Amino acid sequence: MPYAKILSIGSYVPENILTNYDLERIVETSDEWITERSGIKERRIASKDETASILGYKSALKALQKANLDPKDIDLIICATNTPDMQFPATGCLIAGLLNIRVPCFDIQAGCPSVIYALEIARGLIEAKLYKTILLVTTEALSRYLDWTDRSTCVLFGDGASSFILTRSNEPGIISSYLSGDGNLGDLLKFPAGGSKEPASIYTIKNKEHGIRMQGREVFRYAVSYMAESCIKVLEKANMKPEDIDWLVPHQANIRIIDATAEKLNIPKEKVYVNIHKYGNTSAASIGIALDEMIEANLLKRGQNVLIVSFGAGFTWGAIAFRY
Ligand code: ACO
Repeated sequence: MPYAKILSIGSYVPENILTNYDLERIVETSDEWITERSGIKERRIASKDETASILGYKSALKALQKANLDPKDIDLIICATNTPDMQFPATGCLIAGLLNIRVPCFDIQAGCPSVIYALEIARGLIEAKLYKTILLVTTEALSRYLDWTDRSTCVLFGDGASSFILTRSNEPGIISSYLSGDGNLGDLLKFPAGGSKEPASIYTIKNKEHGIRMQGREVFRYAVSYMAESCIKVLEKANMKPEDIDWLVPHQANIRIIDATAEKLNIPKEKVYVNIHKYGNTSAASIGIALDEMIEANLLKRGQNVLIVSFGAGFTWGAIAFRY
């Protein structure tokens, strides 16, 4: 059976930096509180013209360039996003339009692990030989979805995008995956209004329902437990031990969640990649941004084994083990 292999990764973050000190002027918070509780020092904020599709498109161009491919070489586009340009058309279709190619294109929305879910779908389609070369774009314009008066959420998130090009290969590849979810816990992390349940109205605006609502402490508790569980399950499936892993690249939501997950798995800190201080939580985009940075810095090299893991709104969680 062929493998789905990552041919290239590209990422794009907006130029505009919003520091914790800038946030002190927006809500009642402090650099000390944000750093201590989350590990975040600054985040990127998209400019007026940079929607999720534009951020994603910019990262896709970089991934294509690195793979030495033309947009016409792409057979399918999957876009993983929680912050689409609009309800429809899908952001993946808008990106196909920007790339000026006619291909099947659609979105996946599964909270922060959307990237893990989308990689699993891409892997299935490639292994089944239905598609050969897939562009997977992960993109988030979270700053547009935040309530900038809610200090418990607005300090945590940032904007950014990353793209993967996956192709059929005889060498590994994605080795194993594990996905799970629990829809009964969805109320703990949600964006309440603007859908068919609570269409946008004067009432929903007055009640500030157009923003991320999160019960942080509860989310934290589940995140640590399910991220560690996902890693254990995916390693079991791959017949690997934590020591076989060269890099653990977790979703960048909170440094304390990352540290606790690594500790539970007994993976030393030197093998865990962290960039949350620079970008905050970029949801579905965070893992790809991290991987791209690691490749650019020559930290992640061909042939190394990588474990990626995420947890988020849904709740959803999951992990993937792959050889780069
Ligand atoms: N500045 C100062 N004080 C604040 C801030 C702030 N920005 N935000 C909250 N506080 C206050 C609270 O009001 C509270 O005050 P009180 O004790 O007087 O009521 C106090 O700080 C403690 O608040 P907690 O929420 O209990 O703080 P906690 O230690 O849990 O940290 C945090 C909060 C950082 C949100 C943490 O719970 C967390 O990271 N949770 C998980 C987030 C996550 O992983 N999300 C998943 C992915 S996101 C996705 O899928 C879209």
